[in-house]
Amino acid sequence: MAEAGSFADRVKQQADIVRVVGEYVRLKKSGLNFTGLCPFHSEKTPSFSVSATKQFYYCFGCGAGGDIFKFVMEMDKITFPESVRAVAEKCGIAIPRAKERTPEERQQNQQRTSLVELHREAASFFEQQLNATQEGRAAKAYLLDRGLDPEAMARFGIGFAPSGGEALLRAFKQKYPEKSLEVSGLFSRDQNGRLFDRFRRRVMFPIANDSGKIVAFGGRALGDDLPKYLNSPETPIYTKGNILYHLDRAKEALRQRDFAVLVEGYMDAIAVARAGISNVVASCGTSLTEPQVKLLSRFTRRIIVNYDPDTAGQAATERSLTILLEQGAEVRVLALPGGKDPDSFIRSEGATAYTKLLNEAPPYVDYLISRARKMDMSTAEGKLRAVNFLMPYVQRIPDRILRSEWATRIAQQLRIEEPVLRESMRKAASERRSEVKARPELVGRIGKPAERRLVQMLIEAEEFRAQLAEEIRAEELHRGLESERILAALVEVCATGIRPDAAELALSLEERDRRLLFEIAFESAAPPTRAEAESCLAVLRRRRAEEELSVVQKQIESFAAAAGAGAGGELRRLLERKQELRRRLDPPAH
Ligand code: UTP
Ligand code: MN
Repeated sequence: MAEAGSFADRVKQQADIVRVVGEYVRLKKSGLNFTGLCPFHSEKTPSFSVSATKQFYYCFGCGAGGDIFKFVMEMDKITFPESVRAVAEKCGIAIPRAKERTPEERQQNQQRTSLVELHREAASFFEQQLNATQEGRAAKAYLLDRGLDPEAMARFGIGFAPSGGEALLRAFKQKYPEKSLEVSGLFSRDQNGRLFDRFRRRVMFPIANDSGKIVAFGGRALGDDLPKYLNSPETPIYTKGNILYHLDRAKEALRQRDFAVLVEGYMDAIAVARAGISNVVASCGTSLTEPQVKLLSRFTRRIIVNYDPDTAGQAATERSLTILLEQGAEVRVLALPGGKDPDSFIRSEGATAYTKLLNEAPPYVDYLISRARKMDMSTAEGKLRAVNFLMPYVQRIPDRILRSEWATRIAQQLRIEEPVLRESMRKAASERRSEVKARPELVGRIGKPAERRLVQMLIEAEEFRAQLAEEIRAEELHRGLESERILAALVEVCATGIRPDAAELALSLEERDRRLLFEIAFESAAPPTRAEAESCLAVLRRRRAEEELSVVQKQIESFAAAAGAGAGGELRRLLERKQELRRRLDPPAH
């Protein structure tokens, strides 16, 4: 894919796959490689590996593998050219003016850039409004009353959208084409098709994507107007379920403190961040989505859910738990006393009290059991309801040991006989589809040591790979081997003098071969030597001779059985060949 000498090739040479993958996956050094939890399937123990030296990744669990471009393509759901540009950007490599983009791509890109610019300007327009008009100042007073000082307003870019319905429109209509205004989501059309401001008389919270670009707004009504919060609709730059409020500013703290506080609302995130816990993000709506969890788990897998303790918040907590657990997060739940949300709790009890409760937040297991215990436990039906409430969570725990611990806890807490509970858990489990893809048993067994080593050497042996490839090709030593197709592909690349790249080679292989190639490439070994290569070739030659010998032997036997006249010449030839092969297989000892 990355053609030699192309821009993609240059990016690939310069980019550091460990650093780029590390932005998405928490990687730990392990020998020469780095490992982490696979972002392409749910797992509890890391089977995802990145090779720093060979610049590719591979998951021993689900088989996902490739080079840096493939990784970013799959993570960000973008095309190859987009991925090349993204990687270049991440690594600070200057991008040449792109003439090769398709017209649509270029147009979409321009549209996105222009929408981001429009949002940036809208945000500063809204901010100015807080000081510009009577109603703006009233909005400011409202915010002050809610405990936000001007410094906090500035820090979070909070602003105000005036009531008239044309304020933003007037400011923008000369600057932006009508089409841009329309797709921005900041305007609506009236019955006569005229544009007007979507947000009117609302406090405006800018919503940034994870790289800090404002892509949408949440607008809170000043009084009891409905809806309480009005959000931007989805646009080319904004997909609600893919964004976590405050993530752009939380990143650093998330990494450092290795846990996240997950809250419901804008004001909650702001209050928690102001309390000194900047590793907070808000899902801004009721329940969490899978992309949001994936996004968050690039930074940490330990999450404290601190939703509102009201009924809606509880339901949202439980729905979010499901997704978090499926994604292998380690979850604790904080339910604040007095029915308070984080913002109102911090306002009335202070940051210290909040931090204390946060530190004491129980594991989700205890939270759920205490919820279950609030059900009527005096009757068998009540207990059954409680178990049924808990069961879906138990089923979603990928780890067997943890699941088993849960069973014991639940049985104790709900006063149910443990064997009875376990039996119903087993039943439930057998009815559910298995989620973790089993590792195909083929992998890891195929390819005998010599062939595996030759594959490695063709990739790694700078000095003699061309010669080695030529020997394999000339004698067709790869024929009939389990790694035949891999070796054939490698030999072909080596013949052209190009340095083979496992990830690129993998693109042309079938699934089984692709996996085998990655697994072989990951096996660490001492630097290859010419002598070792010779002995591997000798093994293949010997195997070849053994196979031929058994064929010859069979032919001889069938000749002997037929004992036909005139077969003498052919029989003699076979017998001679047999002796020759024997000699080769049992060389005289020196
Ligand atoms: P809440 O109703 O709990 O509001 O909604 P809040 O955050 O406590 O707001 P304040 O403190 O009264 O200002 C939680 C979140 O759900 C989303 C918003 O993101 C809000 O912050 N929401 C709520 C909406 O999108 N629309 C709504 O009408 C209400
Ligand atoms: Mn609130």
